[in-house]
Amino acid sequence: MLLSVEDLKIGFGLLEPLVGVDLGVDAGEILGLVGESGSGKSMTAMSIMGMLPLMGGRIKQGRIVFDGLDLTTINEGSYRKLRGGRIALITQNPMTSLDPVVRVGRQIDQASQLHLGLDRKEAKSRTIDLMDRMRIPSPQHAYDLFPHQLSGGLRQRIVIAMALAGDPDLLIADEPTTALDVTVQAQIIQLLVELVRDRGLGLILITHDMGVIAQTCDRVAVMYCGRVVEYGPVARLFDDPRHPYTRALISCIPQLGMAPGTLTGIPGMVPSSQNLPKGCRFHPRCDSVLDNCRLREPPMKTEDGRSVACFLHEGGQR
Ligand SMILES: Nc1ncnc2c1ncn2[C@@H]1O[C@H](COP(=O)(O)OP(=O)(O)OP(=O)(O)O)[C@@H](O)[C@H]1O
Ligand SMILES: [Mg+2]
Repeated sequence: MLLSVEDLKIGFGLLEPLVGVDLGVDAGEILGLVGESGSGKSMTAMSIMGMLPLMGGRIKQGRIVFDGLDLTTINEGSYRKLRGGRIALITQNPMTSLDPVVRVGRQIDQASQLHLGLDRKEAKSRTIDLMDRMRIPSPQHAYDLFPHQLSGGLRQRIVIAMALAGDPDLLIADEPTTALDVTVQAQIIQLLVELVRDRGLGLILITHDMGVIAQTCDRVAVMYCGRVVEYGPVARLFDDPRHPYTRALISCIPQLGMAPGTLTGIPGMVPSSQNLPKGCRFHPRCDSVLDNCRLREPPMKTEDGRSVACFLHEGGQR
């Protein structure tokens, strides 16, 4: 595994936004991270990026192993070399990653100068090449533009080029297309998939869109209220979802030709992290709740390459 997160628990004071996060991604593979708003997807990304201390949080338990190195044991100085270098993050809103007063080409240059030690001329030619590969039209011209002179889709391509400038092994894309319209969304996702296939990098794709997951990912981790509740290969998870929450998310994917009124939402609301229910965190919204679910948190059971935290699957049987 290029990256494996093992039994991760994080704390912000008394709050524990993540408990029991287990997942992994290999080189050349796409891991989807899916779940409703507030389920802990971005927190998982921040934990991997080593940004919790900067936000006032800390790792309370577990390991984050990247290429054999446990990142929970390294200091900020070592992390700074990894971040933007071997591990890069693309966020939802490109404007937050771009400096509005610096020409976009220079911003990409800076990443390769910092992480690859290139001089200015080498960096510029690498930048033009990256921009071209991101299918940014007339890269020579676009190099000198400021972020506000580009469309949202082109800005997100610049952000991806910036993330790639340090030649990362692992890319985390946190809702990279949420701010874009659907056609541009599809192009950006396609671009990310090509990068994984061509360059063999590992990609963690964070989205709340099960449709995108089904079409692009190799593996998927379904998160609910700070836990991974189901994890496995994408085809098998969609064919035979085991956690009632996964089933509910899949039933929320709209299909063409569906009769009106057949799209089911998930009843109820995600509980707040200050007020989590006892037992399984999903039980107040679950359509298959057992007595046990109200009393204890179901442990994660792994069998046959698939993991699920649900009492319906205790001992592996359905
Ligand atoms: N800076 C912070 N300090 C403390 N807790 C936070 C902070 N940011 C988020 N949280 C809490 O962490 C939990 C997980 O939030 P996170 O942002 O990871 O969700 P998410 O799955 O990325 O949701 P979304 O789909 O809305 O982006 C939430 O309960 C949230 O309230
Ligand atoms: Mg988020």
